[in-house]
Amino acid sequence: MPITTAVFDAYGTLFDVTAAAREAAGEPGREALADTWPQLAAHWRTKQLQYTWLRAVTGDHTDFWTVTQDGLDWALEATGLAGDADLRAGLLQLYWELSAYPEVPAMLARLKEMGLSTAILSNGSPDMLAGAVQSAGIGDLLDDVLSVESVGIFKPAPAVYDLVGQRFGCERSDVLFVSSNGWDAACGAAYGFVTAWVNRAGEPMDRLPGQPQHELSDLTTIPQIADPNYGKLHNL
Ligand code: LAC
Repeated sequence: MPITTAVFDAYGTLFDVTAAAREAAGEPGREALADTWPQLAAHWRTKQLQYTWLRAVTGDHTDFWTVTQDGLDWALEATGLAGDADLRAGLLQLYWELSAYPEVPAMLARLKEMGLSTAILSNGSPDMLAGAVQSAGIGDLLDDVLSVESVGIFKPAPAVYDLVGQRFGCERSDVLFVSSNGWDAACGAAYGFVTAWVNRAGEPMDRLPGQPQHELSDLTTIPQIADPNYGKLHNL
């Protein structure tokens, strides 16, 4: 079956969280952060994700905005920055005004031209996602923004991936699912989506039951993956 629907993870996949955070560290007066910064960012992302998985396993759901703050508070304390309220506020603000990776608008426009449905499927809460979509200026290129909040459990719970078929009325194998998170790509593949892992950081493949069919370094070739014939016809 041809791909009818392209579905994207949000943070780190369409939206460039790391660049925004790096910029914050480069602001005047934040020179002391230069060394600590990568560690703070890594702790933040790790804890944010761990809290999503643990809350899914224990059935103690809260929204992504809360786990994002909880993860940051752990990371600030671990790096000796717990008292810096301005830094905390500045970093959290970044989540509401992210840029998309440079190739995103043209890639989404091409998918729309090809007649595919496009959507975000994210752990993000609806208001965070609306803020990021607006800030990145890609709202017109997306048919929908699906948030885990409508099922009250985080990825990779199958109930989250079920949202795609429920919204677009398509089979799992009609969906091209794109994520920069190795675990999300593996679980999307195990669920039955055709899956592309955007491995910008050159990480090893996660050892999980599913394996993404495609491994990419950015999003440029997504239209060709969605429809190889279209790519050939248009010299992509
Ligand atoms: C998301 C996180 C996992 O957008 O990147 O769902």
